[in-house]
Amino acid sequence: MTVTERPANYGTSMIDLGRFQIDLEMRTLHQSGTLVPVGSRAFDILAVLVSAAGRLVTKDELLDSVWPKTVVEENNIQVHLSALRKILGEDRNLIVTIPGRGYQLRQRPVESRAPAVESRAFRRSLPLRETRLTGRDAAVRQISTLIQTTQLLTLTGAGGIGKTSLAIAVARQASNDSSRAVCFVELATATTEDAVLCEVAEACGLSTLDAAVDIAQLAAAVSGKRLLLVLDNAEHVIDTVARIVDALVAASEILRVMVTSREPLRLMQETVYRVEPLDVPSSHSTHAEIVQFPAVKLFLLRVNSIQRYAYAGCEKIHLIGEICRRLDGIPLAIELAAARVAGLGVEGVHRYLHDRFSLLTGGYRTALPRHQTFRATFDWSFSILNPCHQLLFRRLAVFSGGFTFDAMCAVVCDEKYAVADAVGGIGDLVAKSLVNIELKGPVSRYRLSDSARAYALEKLHAEGEQRLIAARHARYVSHCLRPCLADSVAEQLDLEIDFRQSLDDARSAFDWAFSQHGDTRIGVELAAGLTEALLDAGLIHECCTRAEQAIDALEELPLASVDSDTEMRVRATLASALIYAQGPVSKSAQSWTEVLALAGDTGNGSGANSEGESVKALPPDPISSSDNEQAQEYGRTVLRPPLQPRRSFCACAGICATSSACVILSR
Ligand SMILES: Nc1ncnc2c1ncn2[C@@H]1O[C@H](COP(=O)(O)OP(=O)(O)O)[C@@H](O)[C@H]1O
Ligand SMILES: [Mg+2]
Repeated sequence: MTVTERPANYGTSMIDLGRFQIDLEMRTLHQSGTLVPVGSRAFDILAVLVSAAGRLVTKDELLDSVWPKTVVEENNIQVHLSALRKILGEDRNLIVTIPGRGYQLRQRPVESRAPAVESRAFRRSLPLRETRLTGRDAAVRQISTLIQTTQLLTLTGAGGIGKTSLAIAVARQASNDSSRAVCFVELATATTEDAVLCEVAEACGLSTLDAAVDIAQLAAAVSGKRLLLVLDNAEHVIDTVARIVDALVAASEILRVMVTSREPLRLMQETVYRVEPLDVPSSHSTHAEIVQFPAVKLFLLRVNSIQRYAYAGCEKIHLIGEICRRLDGIPLAIELAAARVAGLGVEGVHRYLHDRFSLLTGGYRTALPRHQTFRATFDWSFSILNPCHQLLFRRLAVFSGGFTFDAMCAVVCDEKYAVADAVGGIGDLVAKSLVNIELKGPVSRYRLSDSARAYALEKLHAEGEQRLIAARHARYVSHCLRPCLADSVAEQLDLEIDFRQSLDDARSAFDWAFSQHGDTRIGVELAAGLTEALLDAGLIHECCTRAEQAIDALEELPLASVDSDTEMRVRATLASALIYAQGPVSKSAQSWTEVLALAGDTGNGSGANSEGESVKALPPDPISSSDNEQAQEYGRTVLRPPLQPRRSFCACAGICATSSACVILSR
């Protein structure tokens, strides 16, 4: 027998036997380039005979080699041998039975003639990785099915979400089923076009020692082969990979290519499979439910096994559920967090999550450098963005929840970044798995995961843009808190969702404005709209707290920092809310007096539509009235449709509430 000699890193042998080619390492049998399914034991028998290079192999030898740890009946050999002979068809006589002695190949296997382009050796073995995946059974099944029907499948998703792990699991299954030869190419370290070509070429068995390989040679090498080519970690060389893959799938219908990348190749033949995060429990899940979630299972699997039992049964499981939720169900982040449990305990890990990039370090020594720390995962994605996309991404950090395209443009765009750039920009960030898109409802919403946002925020600080963008965001959300009246119940529901989102945005902008690095003037401006919205939503306590915070801050600001219109709105809202929160207290009456005074100021010469004019146009102040009937009539008057626009309405509501209070008071 002669075996094709390969450089040491191949470490495999390709053998020709009659019309067949046998790959001992990949355990495949091909007939003229077509993979022939063969059972595992039958292949073992063939491998022993081939390795004996024409020498006679005794039955005992065969039994020892094929069933090394089991005592089996001799007739097992007969069963698998006859299956093998059936597969060999007209070449069945290649295996000769020597009665009473053993078996022998009639023909010596010969060296596989493997000229550069004609190689039959697809021999990059699969990476040795933990293959027991948590929570991915359905995904593996789905992807395995897709591979049958689509020539090119790209697994996309954020860094550390589990693309490579899934690809390995699917490839291993394909290889075990002997349905295809599998060729796995790791591209993480290939940074140039030549390097990518070289990796793929070598994996396809082409010699790259003598001459540079071109795409046409590669296409010829894979043509007609029942091969699954896996190109792993392609995002940083996506253009080159797209060109190579395009040529390969055009050259061979039976070739299957699976790519893992944070972004799709954008080829016509491509099917994109978005790898989802692992499912995480909600804050309402019970203990029994929490332990069933894949993200929690993975966390428990990765903490030291002794600790695992301590955690699984106790209330810490709720903390673990929250850790997994705040890490967005990303397996890499969960693994890194679990690794910290030994030093910090579950509570410590939970406590330090606000500084997740410092916490989530110390990955497996064997992992890729960009998987050693969670920050490195994002560094990798960020470093391959162009400067324009980097600017967009870091500015998006200001949105704590979902946001629309319009909101994004209002906050992000300026002379440095045009709206025209934003159209492609956000699409690219979605494609690169840095931003998620939600297609529910009439308008698409975008969202950054907690981790992506934390990373973007670091970049925004580093660029010194945080104040600028946060201020723009605060102004924008303040503007969005204006009311919109719906025409139908369905529309009302959509508006409710929008309203709740706007409230969340406004809260986060408000908190920023009154924080150490914020801007209280912007905060007071925002407070006008936010407190009115909170009052409308019946969130009275929060309304009072934020209005009081804004008024306290306002009193510290230099005179005329905030226009009296704004001040009047905040005080009127507080006056109204206090009635609900605390009853007819003097603080409310005093607030209201200040509102009326401001109304007098703003009304003078400010035009008929100003706040002051609307307030002054109302019936006389009922606070001093002791007539219940008059107070009630007053309330009815100010609330009579058509309702005034919200700003005036709020002031009216304040008066109305006060008047109702007077009614109660006078009972
Ligand atoms: N379903 C899973 N079960 C267990 N571990 C997983 C799972 N998915 C990913 N991992 C682990 O998470 C880490 C990152 O996964 P990987 O597949 O390399 O992510 P990606 O290729 O998307 O960047 C690896 O250590 C991997 O073993
Ligand atoms: Mg990967």
